[in-house]
Amino acid sequence: ATLAANGELKKSLDEADAPLPLYGAGPAPEQQQPAAAKPPRKPVTVATVRGKHGRGEPLSMLTAYDYPSARLAEQAGLDILLVGDSVGMVVLGYDSTTQVTMDEMLHHAKAVARGSEHCFKVGDLPFGAYLTAEDAMRNSVALVKDGKMDAIKLEGGRRVVPQIEAVVDAGINVMGHIGLTPQTAAALGGYRVQGKSAQAAEELLADAYALEQAGCMAVVLECVPDRIASYVTSRLSIPTIGIGAGAGCSGQVQVLHDVLGLYDKLQPKFSRQYVDAGSVIARALEDYVADVGTAAFPCKEESFAIADKQYDEFIAGQISLERESNAAAEDLARQAQAASLHLQQRQAEAEAVRAQ
Ligand code: KIV
Repeated sequence: ATLAANGELKKSLDEADAPLPLYGAGPAPEQQQPAAAKPPRKPVTVATVRGKHGRGEPLSMLTAYDYPSARLAEQAGLDILLVGDSVGMVVLGYDSTTQVTMDEMLHHAKAVARGSEHCFKVGDLPFGAYLTAEDAMRNSVALVKDGKMDAIKLEGGRRVVPQIEAVVDAGINVMGHIGLTPQTAAALGGYRVQGKSAQAAEELLADAYALEQAGCMAVVLECVPDRIASYVTSRLSIPTIGIGAGAGCSGQVQVLHDVLGLYDKLQPKFSRQYVDAGSVIARALEDYVADVGTAAFPCKEESFAIADKQYDEFIAGQISLERESNAAAEDLARQAQAASLHLQQRQAEAEAVRAQ
């Protein structure tokens, strides 16, 4: 009887040596999806964004932080991906976005760029990365050059105009961000709706004009009353992208983890959860733990086989090694016993000599 009665691998050695799909191999031909009927996507550029805005078509924007989320967003047809500094909270577990560093932004930007070929990709400059025009330029260049972003985004109105102008002059697309600016939420008195008084709305409009004038390609309006956001949108020639700013903006942006139900620390009023992926994932992980615990995982199909001939040869080798080592061990035991007898005799002789 063979030691491994594995019928499925009764192949010639040549066949058995053929590389097995392990890592890096695509799905088996029978698992491959038929070619999608959708026409191939063209890359979204700043011209595409302007074109859609000009035709009054809403722009869809979503945050993405890594390769798989970028790929999924790309397949879903998003126009714009934002590698937001919200990564600090929803992915890295910080309690605010202010702790996010340029290195962390670059790390995530690169992953998103690898996952998305067609979406227009915007990278956030994190808190402290654009205190001066020179900082803004240097860090924006890094996001474009190393992070492969198509644009950068920074927070603030009139006070950051010099930084925006410097970055625009360097030939980089800039997206502004006003209203609630999480990086400076402490200075705004916390995470609260902005532009709620007539005077605050005037300030917001002045900031929006300043960003347009400075050369921004678009501006995010976060947590702004819907009628104010709508009015600002109507006054600008560049698109507004709203988050908590109502339906009158030129487009909408959401945080990926809010949309998927993956961030349980808070669910902002302005976000819409499209799926409770957190619960789906939690159930899947519990199932995995249970399967490992009951040895239901892995099954034969999830394991790798060895040809009977090779396995038998291996076991035969082990048996003969064991026999040899058993024989050697018996030899040793005999030698040890003889040595011990010899010692006893010597001791007895010595005792007899001493007794005389
Ligand atoms: O970092 C981020 O996710 C953002 C969006 C909220 C616009 O800036």
